[in-house]
Amino acid sequence: MLALLAGTADAQALPAPLTATPGDPANGEAIVTTRERGLCILCHAGPFEGVDFMGDLAPDLTGVGARLTVPELRQQIVDSRVANPATIMPPYHSTDGLTRVGAAWEGTTILTAQEVEDVVAYLATLTEEPE
Ligand code: HEC
Repeated sequence: MLALLAGTADAQALPAPLTATPGDPANGEAIVTTRERGLCILCHAGPFEGVDFMGDLAPDLTGVGARLTVPELRQQIVDSRVANPATIMPPYHSTDGLTRVGAAWEGTTILTAQEVEDVVAYLATLTEEPE
């Protein structure tokens, strides 16, 4: 899969959905806004209801659905190292080139393909720019 992607013209975007089932934005919201699942809010703030503490290590996700296309969002979640090799954001759906992986997680990805699609579908709804 990754070898195939490396050959595409725009290496910073993944145009093809990872699954046949379209992403579910409600499940994506749950993944993004709960600490147990995506850990996104450890680093990112955003227009998230009912979330008290949010990180400021990364861009605020408010309006990200207007700033980035769906293929760009997908690439960012699957493996943000493609855009920024020195990123601190974990690659959520890639096991390539990872070091210091705990034995229980070796060869697994943080999110499943369907969860990535759910997260992307949710982020795409965040089109409201900050005031
Ligand atoms: C350890 C910190 C960290 C975590 C956890 C994290 N990110 Fe990020 N994220 C970053 C940083 C830093 C950037 C800025 C670009 C870069 O350095 O790659 C970024 C960039 C992004 C961008 C692009 C934003 C823009 O305006 O261009 C999106 C979208 C994004 N992250 C979504 C997520 C989602 C969704 C999750 C959870 C599934 C998540 N991130 C988890 C650190 C993190």
